[in-house]
Amino acid sequence: MTRIFSGIQPTGVAHIGNYLGAIRNWVAMQDGNEPVYCLVDLHALTVWVNPVELRDQTRLNAALLLACGIDPRHSILFHQSAVHAHVRLAWIFNCVARFGWLSRMTQFKDKAGKDRENVSTGLFVYPNLMAADILAYHATEVPVGEDQRQHIELANDISLKFNHDYGVDFFPQIFPRVAKSTARIMSLRDGARKMSKSDLSDQSRINLTDDADTIAQKIRRAKTDSEPIPDCAGSLDNRPEARNLIGIYAALSGVSTDDVLREHSGKGFSAFKEILTDILVDRIVPIGDAAKRYAADPIEIDRILHAGAGRAATIAEPIVSEAERIVGLLSS
Ligand code: AMP
Ligand code: TRP
Repeated sequence: MTRIFSGIQPTGVAHIGNYLGAIRNWVAMQDGNEPVYCLVDLHALTVWVNPVELRDQTRLNAALLLACGIDPRHSILFHQSAVHAHVRLAWIFNCVARFGWLSRMTQFKDKAGKDRENVSTGLFVYPNLMAADILAYHATEVPVGEDQRQHIELANDISLKFNHDYGVDFFPQIFPRVAKSTARIMSLRDGARKMSKSDLSDQSRINLTDDADTIAQKIRRAKTDSEPIPDCAGSLDNRPEARNLIGIYAALSGVSTDDVLREHSGKGFSAFKEILTDILVDRIVPIGDAAKRYAADPIEIDRILHAGAGRAATIAEPIVSEAERIVGLLSS
């Protein structure tokens, strides 16, 4: 059986980039697979986060995943810190991965910026923990957005080096599953930057908890240009904001970009923004409403997460214990 694993950081609120780039695929991959989906709260600690907010947002993002259709009867849903096998394997990977490999990670370079001396060491070794998340389950399929591709390549380098150094065939090769058309949903304020929870401007993203008025206002203010909608995708090459809005509409309505262009070419963006708002409200507001209902019962959320952690540990424990034995640790 192929094992599917993916994770999301529980800081901030999941947005339509997370939904279209990753979560929608997580839901689609549930049938008959028992995938493992993780709220990566340990990854969240790599930058400063208020402890009360972290706990609340872990529950809220769990509620959002349930509202998007993650079904705990099919999927294993849990918070990373509840399964200690992740950090045990991450330490071993800290000792397998090379400093140079981590120095080349673009996400680290972006997040650290010019202030490298002052970022946490956790931020630097973050991809090793991510590799441990996946490999603790011998998972081979990882549905993610484009921005995580480099981390998965690094996880494969770790897997290969571990197998090579210890002369074993223990960790498998991992395949990123990146949704082609929605791999990178961009900011509503700047078509050159990806939509992100950490963007200071809330206007840059549509959160899955936004109500209809907020969505309408954010789309109205979204950056575009004064040209009408073209009739072929090639004409969008130098119009990143226009391409992004058309891509979001295409993804939500389940049609190709070409079909959207065929239907709407010649329209100005003020008219297109209205139909984009309608479909966003139609698809996103019910998710936010359902999440509110789940979030109203934090005890039930905690019960689901702890039950998931129990199932996750059953898979990860023997794999990580075996990795510890391979590297020469006495059994715990
Ligand atoms: P994060 O919010 O960084 O924890 O991301 C959770 C998942 O959403 C990962 O698979 C990311 O690759 C994906 N993701 C995050 N932002 C975007 C975006 N703007 N477009 C597409 N996928 C995204
Ligand atoms: N680094 C991922 C992100 O920021 C989250 C993540 C952590 C993850 N562990 C993972 C994704 C394992 C896939 C598999 O989006």
